[in-house]
Amino acid sequence: MNDFDARARTWDDDPIRVERARAVADTIARLVPLDDMMYCLEYGAGTGLLSFALQPRVGGIVLADTSAGMLAVADAKIAAASLDEDLRVMKIDLLEDPLPEDRFNLLFTLLTLHHIPDIPAILDKFYEMLIAPGWLCIADLDLEDGSFHGEGFSGHRGFDREALGKLVEAAGFVNIRCDTAYEIPRMAGGVLHHYPLFLLVAEKARR
Ligand SMILES: C[S@@+](CC[C@H](N)C(=O)[O-])C[C@H]1O[C@@H](n2cnc3c(N)ncnc32)[C@H](O)[C@@H]1O
Repeated sequence: MNDFDARARTWDDDPIRVERARAVADTIARLVPLDDMMYCLEYGAGTGLLSFALQPRVGGIVLADTSAGMLAVADAKIAAASLDEDLRVMKIDLLEDPLPEDRFNLLFTLLTLHHIPDIPAILDKFYEMLIAPGWLCIADLDLEDGSFHGEGFSGHRGFDREALGKLVEAAGFVNIRCDTAYEIPRMAGGVLHHYPLFLLVAEKARR
């Protein structure tokens, strides 16, 4: 059982997680011309908070994650909401497993990139998973001092927007832009911090 499996059952109990997913969904809707024919992939979907917030504005969504526990909670929520025709879960690690056959119009990811060691490699996979024209939306932390996760975390301490934009461009994407979607309030070391959450949007252009 990984750390996220253990946290899955109570993940949605934190209202900040629900609120930030809604804020990111609204920012995606502001920056991307969404329509109800769009076939979408959420990578690192967890319990599906962002997918549920976006679902009324797009077509079908595949919720991909490496945590069986997170996906079990997402699956139960899908069944409870009778959304089986619109949402489905997929256990996959795009850097380890064979790519699925499906290709998508929109790929979005929230607070997952900082857990993935090889950013250029995952951006190449994101590019491959998209149809052209297609949209990539990455929501993640701005550079932080490590206090967001605390000691023992080996992932990225957020991202510099410009540096990430250059990596996204190197993967083949165009029209890259960024905006602040939310600020995550969190106690760290006895102090209340507000960690900005950016949304980077990029396009896979028709060739
Ligand atoms: C901080 S949680 C965010 C979950 C969800 N996006 C949200 O905002 O509520 C990070 C998620 O990324 C998933 N994850 C971590 N590494 C991953 C990888 N290599 N591929 C896919 N998902 C991964 C975890 O299982 C977890 O569900």
